[in-house]
Amino acid sequence: MKLLSLAESKSCLKLHFFCKGLILAFFFYSGNEDFKPEMLKGKRVIVTGASTGIGEQMAYHLARMGSHILITARTEAKLQKVVAQCLELGAASASYINGSMEDMAFAQSVVKKAEELWGGLDMLILNHVSPAFLSYFNSDVAYMQKVLNINFLSYVTMTVASLPMLKNSGGSIVVVSSLAGKVAFPFTVYYSATKFALDGFFSSLRQEFAMKNTNVSITLCVLGLIDTETAMKAISGVVQISAAPKEECALEIIKGGALRQREIYYEYLSTRIPLLIRDWAPNLLDYIIQRNYNVEKLKD
Ligand SMILES: NC(=O)c1ccc[n+]([C@@H]2O[C@H](COP(=O)([O-])OP(=O)(O)OC[C@H]3O[C@@H](n4cnc5c(N)ncnc54)[C@H](OP(=O)(O)O)[C@@H]3O)[C@@H](O)[C@H]2O)c1
Ligand SMILES: *[C@@H]1O[C@H](CO)[C@@H](O)[C@H](O)[C@H]1NC(C)=O
Ligand SMILES: *[C@@H]1O[C@H](CO)[C@@H](O)[C@H](O)[C@H]1NC(C)=O
Repeated sequence: MKLLSLAESKSCLKLHFFCKGLILAFFFYSGNEDFKPEMLKGKRVIVTGASTGIGEQMAYHLARMGSHILITARTEAKLQKVVAQCLELGAASASYINGSMEDMAFAQSVVKKAEELWGGLDMLILNHVSPAFLSYFNSDVAYMQKVLNINFLSYVTMTVASLPMLKNSGGSIVVVSSLAGKVAFPFTVYYSATKFALDGFFSSLRQEFAMKNTNVSITLCVLGLIDTETAMKAISGVVQISAAPKEECALEIIKGGALRQREIYYEYLSTRIPLLIRDWAPNLLDYIIQRNYNVEKLKD
């Protein structure tokens, strides 16, 4: 009898520690498994806009992890250099195809090339953007159409073309967006419109995938300012905020995709806090944002 109650109190103690551990684990890991670079070993990955910036860094990370990589952008010479570097870093294979994402036939041909190369696809990383600059909206509807094609419609086109392969592999779609796709900033009207569109399209599609048991994950990446050459040049003189490193940013995007997360925020606090303020005090957020701009330095 005594023995039994001892055993009972022991198992009660065990349960107590188990629950505590569960709660702690929830707080520290928010239910996610840990990322391991081996998760990307041998995986077949397309990275768009990989000739420079964050896309280039993603290609290098994937190469170190031993992935098969297909990169794309317009500038062939830069892509050739990135491919050579990827092979040196240990990519299972690396290829490129150059062309403009303004052209939907080209967007489709990138996916076709992956199919020819590998006969399947595990991850589609959509990252390219039309070069952005800061200026007042100048009412150019034709330009809006062009930027929508590059930053939004080509993402839709590539997603549609990839879906059969991604369904087959239980693959992932990774969409690189911006804080400017969740919060409105001034002087980025064209860019912001396309980034908000990505959230609408991919978040709605994610719901349908869940309801249809389509095993393709969609990760939307909400990035703050990152220290790429293009971004630094674009904001120079107009806004002063600190930029996060592109290498770490690229790794966080890949991790988010591999762990099949719904969204990633990088850097965490500098993207999450504005979103909190947006929902509770939008006028205050507008005020804070507007104070940050040196309007005299805008090019028009
Ligand atoms: N850097 C930031 O502060 C920041 C902040 C938030 C979000 N993001 C997002 O992160 C992603 C990468 O940004 P980044 O700063 O790394 O940009 P980036 O260095 O300017 O790279 C853009 C890439 O897209 C390609 N590209 C441009 N126009 C194209 C077109 N018409 N067709 C095909 N490819 C085209 C470029 O190559 P070619 O010129 O050779 O075509 C380049 O490889 C973007 O989605 C951006 O919105 C960046
Ligand atoms: C692809 O690269 C070639 C060679 O550099 C170039 O002539 C061509 O214009 C590029 N294609 C596009 C669509 O930019
Ligand atoms: C969905 O795909 C992932 C990754 O390929 C796989 O680990 C998981 O088991 C799949 N889930 C189902 C329900 O098939």
